[in-house]
Amino acid sequence: MLRTLYAKLALGLVVLIAAMGLVYALLSLSATRHYLAQVHQQVNRDLARNLVADRDLVAEGRLNEPALKSMFHDYMQINPSIEIYLLDLEGRILSYSADPGKVKRKRVSLGPIRAFLDDAARFPLLGDDPRSHERRKVFSVTPVPSANAPQGYLYVVLRGETYDFVDAFAEGSYFARLSAWAVAATLVFGLLAGLIVFRLLTRRLQRLTAAMDRFRVSDFSEPDRYQHKPAAEARDEVDRLGVTFDQMAGRIVEQIQELKQQDALRRDLVAQVSHDLRTPLAALHGYLETLKLKEDALSAEERARYLEIVLRQSQHLTRLVGELFELAKLEAREATPQCEPFSLPELVQDVVQKFQLEAGERRVTLTMELDADLPLVSADIALVERVLDNLIDNALSHTPAGGTVRVPVRRDADRVILCVADTGKGIAEGDLPKIFEPFYQAKEPASGNGHAGLGLAIARRIVELHGSVLDVRSRPGEGTTFVFGLPVWRPA
Ligand SMILES: Nc1ncnc2c1ncn2[C@@H]1O[C@H](COP(=O)(O)OP(=O)(O)O)[C@@H](O)[C@H]1O
Ligand SMILES: [Mg+2]
Repeated sequence: MLRTLYAKLALGLVVLIAAMGLVYALLSLSATRHYLAQVHQQVNRDLARNLVADRDLVAEGRLNEPALKSMFHDYMQINPSIEIYLLDLEGRILSYSADPGKVKRKRVSLGPIRAFLDDAARFPLLGDDPRSHERRKVFSVTPVPSANAPQGYLYVVLRGETYDFVDAFAEGSYFARLSAWAVAATLVFGLLAGLIVFRLLTRRLQRLTAAMDRFRVSDFSEPDRYQHKPAAEARDEVDRLGVTFDQMAGRIVEQIQELKQQDALRRDLVAQVSHDLRTPLAALHGYLETLKLKEDALSAEERARYLEIVLRQSQHLTRLVGELFELAKLEAREATPQCEPFSLPELVQDVVQKFQLEAGERRVTLTMELDADLPLVSADIALVERVLDNLIDNALSHTPAGGTVRVPVRRDADRVILCVADTGKGIAEGDLPKIFEPFYQAKEPASGNGHAGLGLAIARRIVELHGSVLDVRSRPGEGTTFVFGLPVWRPA
């Protein structure tokens, strides 16, 4: 039932307002009682003394017993709103006007009586009610026969009327009803206003909850915005919650999409890998089978040629598996570069030397251009050699005879920049963003060259692990240049 915050707040408010009303009613009732008792006693302050005078209770300095009896009789019959008691000096009750069965006390305490007579006490001053052992009531008292020679007290209890009067006042009085209504109206108004305010405050929370629910129901695929306000305009916590929810939902959707894309890519990769592995395996298998079945029918040259093919295919496979493994390691961030200071020109020289023979066969000029005084760089020498291998290998295989492959090394602020620039056929603009993807090859490679489109993916990953980027600039027909930088080594 109380499932919503609003219902809980509303219930809390109702209880609070009811409690306030109750406390107010009790407080005002007791205050009214106190006030009325005070007024009652004040007005009837001299009642006892006046009774003595009016009724001629004292004659010639002595108490007039018959007059007292007649007064008791009269008041019991005519005016039961007061009770009259004759007390001795110790407070013992000698005689009284009330019904004998109802008087329970034998004496009343003198403390309040003395306080009354001393004029010291503040009203309402409560004295014992002889009709009860606990109850105390306002009273009027006077010494008899006289204040100079007191032999006892005439003690007048101003009956229960005070209380009855208050209750009657509370029930029937116009003012009492009016103030009760005013209080009730105020409380109801407060309640309604509170409910409206709560409604307004919780409405946005409800909207947010609904947006979250819809997002969940959509399986976290459609971010249902709470609001379109920018974060800076958020007015309060609810708005901030909303803005944060919007941002989080956006991120979740993005990340789920990213994950899905990555998943699709991975699936493609697996398909590609199995395809790329199956082709050379099928060739291997075919040639080996032929060799076995037609062992006698084959001439020596044929057999040598088949074996040559088998060997090449197995090399291709070995290389492919090796590269795949290398890329997987680099992607999984398992390979952290073991950085050490080394001389880049020396490494470039070694690699260029290694490719000179192949360049000669292709009739491509392979040169390097080294700035003077190049500093040492801090990098993983084996990995950087791998990058250079891949780039120079690519450049040579995409540059026709008569072309040039240059490898300039330059100093640039705190980095050493390395380029591999060829005068080959270049790369079409549409292919440029894709060449770094694993298995991407712009054109079918010369068959059997053992290339699977992994070289640049590996090279880029290595350069990234060194905190740099591998850039490419190329135009079809104008050659291609790959560029990357390595940090200059600084002695610690
Ligand atoms: N220097 C270059 N000139 C022209 N195209 C290149 C060059 N380097 C790379 N490419 C293109 O990028 C593709 C991906 O290169 P790479 O990842 O090394 O794979 P692979 O060399 O196995 O084909 C190549 O197939 C080729 O189309
Ligand atoms: Mg390559």
